Amino acid sequence: HAKQRNIGHLITERLTPAMADLLREIGRAGDELGVNLFVVGGFVRDLLLCRKSDDIDVVVEGDGIDFARRFILKKGGRCNTHREFCTAVMVLPNGFKIDVASARMEYYTAPAALPTVEMSSIQRDLFRRDFTINTLAVGLNKKNFGTLIDFFGAQRDLKDKTIRTLHNLSFVEDPTRVFRAIKFANRFDFTIGKLTLSLIRNAVKFDFFRKLSGRRLFSELKQILEEENPIPAIESLRNYHLEKVIHPDLIMDDSIIETLGAAQKAVSWHDLLYLNTPCMNWSIYFMVILKKCPYQVVKEICSHLRLSPSQTKLILRDRLKAEERLYILERRFPPTNSGLYALLNIFKPEHLLYIMACTRIDRVRKAVSFYYTRLKDIKPTIQGRDLIALNLKPGRTFQAILQSVLDAKLDGKLKNKKEEIAFVQKHHMPVNPDSMDKSVD
Ligand code: CTP
Repeated sequence: HAKQRNIGHLITERLTPAMADLLREIGRAGDELGVNLFVVGGFVRDLLLCRKSDDIDVVVEGDGIDFARRFILKKGGRCNTHREFCTAVMVLPNGFKIDVASARMEYYTAPAALPTVEMSSIQRDLFRRDFTINTLAVGLNKKNFGTLIDFFGAQRDLKDKTIRTLHNLSFVEDPTRVFRAIKFANRFDFTIGKLTLSLIRNAVKFDFFRKLSGRRLFSELKQILEEENPIPAIESLRNYHLEKVIHPDLIMDDSIIETLGAAQKAVSWHDLLYLNTPCMNWSIYFMVILKKCPYQVVKEICSHLRLSPSQTKLILRDRLKAEERLYILERRFPPTNSGLYALLNIFKPEHLLYIMACTRIDRVRKAVSFYYTRLKDIKPTIQGRDLIALNLKPGRTFQAILQSVLDAKLDGKLKNKKEEIAFVQKHHMPVNPDSMDKSVD
C-alpha cells in the first residue's frame, strides 16, 4: 500500500555527480547479486528537504554483509561487519562511509508493536524506525532506480512539517527517541505531532528513561548541542522536564536560557572567524547548562554520562578556573595587554567562549575577544639560540627572559627582533661592551 513516485530527477539535480554515480553503482551491484536494495532514512529525508547529507544508509533485501563484502572487493576500500546485527560499514578508498543493513525476515525479533499483517522485508525494516519522516526508501536496482517508496505517510509529514512516531510503543522500545524528536523538530523547524507529544509526556511521567544508559543519553544530548542553534531544543527539554533525566537536581532557569543565548552568539562569532579551529561547541552549551549546579552534582552528571577523563576535566575543573578568572576580570580589569594575557592564556577556545557567554559586562566580553583575535598568538621573535648568541647561559632564566620579552611585545613596546634583542641587553645583561659586539640581528 505504499505511495510511490519517481524522484530520479532529484538524484541528478540535487546530488553531486559522484554521489549519484555511487548510488547507480550500488544498484548495479545489487542487480548482479540478484538482491533488491534501497537507500533509506535520513538520506532520503534530506534529499527531499534539499539538505546536504553525507551519510548513505542502504538496506539490502537479503544478506547485507555478503553484499558489502562483494562491493568492496570490486571497488576497493574496506568493510567492517557486525555479524550480530547483520550490518556492515563500507569505507570507500576516499574515506566515504556507507552503512549497509540486512532486511531479512529471519532477522526480526518481532517488536512489540509489529502488526500481524504481511509486510515485505523492506517495509518491516522501515517500520522499526523512529519517526515517519525517517521511513522513506528509494529503489536502487535498475528496474526501480529512483522510485520513492512511502509506506507510512512520510511525505505528508514532511509537507506538514510534523514529527510523528510510527506507533504508540516507539518510546517504550527506545526512549532516546524522545531526544531525537526534539533534535529533529528543532533542526527542521518542525512541530511534534499531538499524539507524539502526549507519548513524550507519558514517557516523562512514567520515567521510561530509568533503564537508559548514561552513555546513550550523553550521545543524544551531545547531538542536540552540536546543532547549529540548539537553544530552542534546550528550551523544549526544559518544557518537558527532561533536564531531570540528566540529574534530578539540575535546574534550568531563565537566566541559564539567557546565558545560552549569549553562548550562541559567541559560538557563531567564533565559527565565522575561525572556521578551521577545532572547538567543541557542545561543551560550551553544556557548561552553561551546568553553571548553577553544585560541584558534586556536576561530578555525578559527568560520571553518569560516562564522559571521558579529558571531557570531565574540561567541564569540571577548567570551567571553574574560567569562572575564577572571569570573577577577577569583572572586578580588577587588567590595565595592560600582558595582564590580560596572563589571565587568559591557560584557556582553550571553549573556555574563552564560555567566559564571553557568562559575562554581562560588555568591556569584559570585548577584552576576551581582543585577547582571542589579537594577543593569543603573539610570540617573541627571538628564541633560545638568540640568547645563546648574546652569550647568555642556557638555563631556567631563559624562560623568564623570553616571558619578559613577550610581555613587552604584548604591551606594544617592541616592534621587531632588533628591539627585542636590545630589550634583552638592556634588562637582562650586565653592561658589557664585548658581549654586545657579538649580538646578532
Ligand atoms: N533510528 C531509530 N531509532 C534510534 C536511532 C535511529 O529508529 N534511536 C533510525 C532512524 O530512522 C534513522 C536511522 O536509524 O533514520 C539512522 O540513524 P541516524 O544516522 O542517527 O539518523 P539520521 O536520520 O541520519 O540522523 P542525522 O541526520 O542526525 O544523522
